[in-house]
Amino acid sequence: MALKGPEIVEVQGSDGLEGALPLLRRALAEGPARERVGAAERFVRESLGGRGALLLLARGPGPVDLGVLFAAASGNPFLGTSVPLVYALFVRPENRRAGVAAALLARAEKVYRARGYGELAAEVPYQDDALISMGERRGYVREREWMAKDL
Ligand SMILES: CC(C)(COP(=O)(O)OP(=O)(O)OC[C@H]1O[C@@H](n2cnc3c(N)ncnc32)[C@H](O)[C@@H]1OP(=O)(O)O)[C@@H](O)C(=O)NCCC(=O)NCCS
Repeated sequence: MALKGPEIVEVQGSDGLEGALPLLRRALAEGPARERVGAAERFVRESLGGRGALLLLARGPGPVDLGVLFAAASGNPFLGTSVPLVYALFVRPENRRAGVAAALLARAEKVYRARGYGELAAEVPYQDDALISMGERRGYVREREWMAKDL
């Protein structure tokens, strides 16, 4: 019998957001925005409901959510483009290596395709080979190198 993947739920409106907050806050606290969790949470709140934003939860059989994905479209006024970017992808440590992140990402791609976007992007720490190869196995291609200098 085929293994059943997690149920993926698209969070709609502020009621849904309240239910997603425990895991979302944990994802923010352990992610690249850990120094500004409050501001990052405000950004999620303000973006939700817009065409460019997406908050997904992975549900298991129990009461606790397994994983979360948040993405929002970033405009480039210079190029006149708008590309959705995955800002947070987090799976509870006890539920990792079971396809939860893959299921969240697959749903995000499907939703954005249905909304008319031609691309989904993610920012990955430089030379994080595990994450890069996870993306590459799913058809993601390295397009840019981001260069920065401390001022
Ligand atoms: C990265 C993360 C989201 C993966 O979640 P997951 O549910 O365990 O991933 P999946 O089970 O769907 O695995 C997807 C693929 O990645 C691989 N993978 C997952 N974690 C890995 C790791 N730590 N090292 C190497 N490969 C890994 C899996 O083997 C799988 O490979 P496949 O392409 O052959 O199927 C999870 O480890 C996590 O929450 N990490 C902390 C936050 C983070 O780094 N987020 C990503 C940046 S936004």
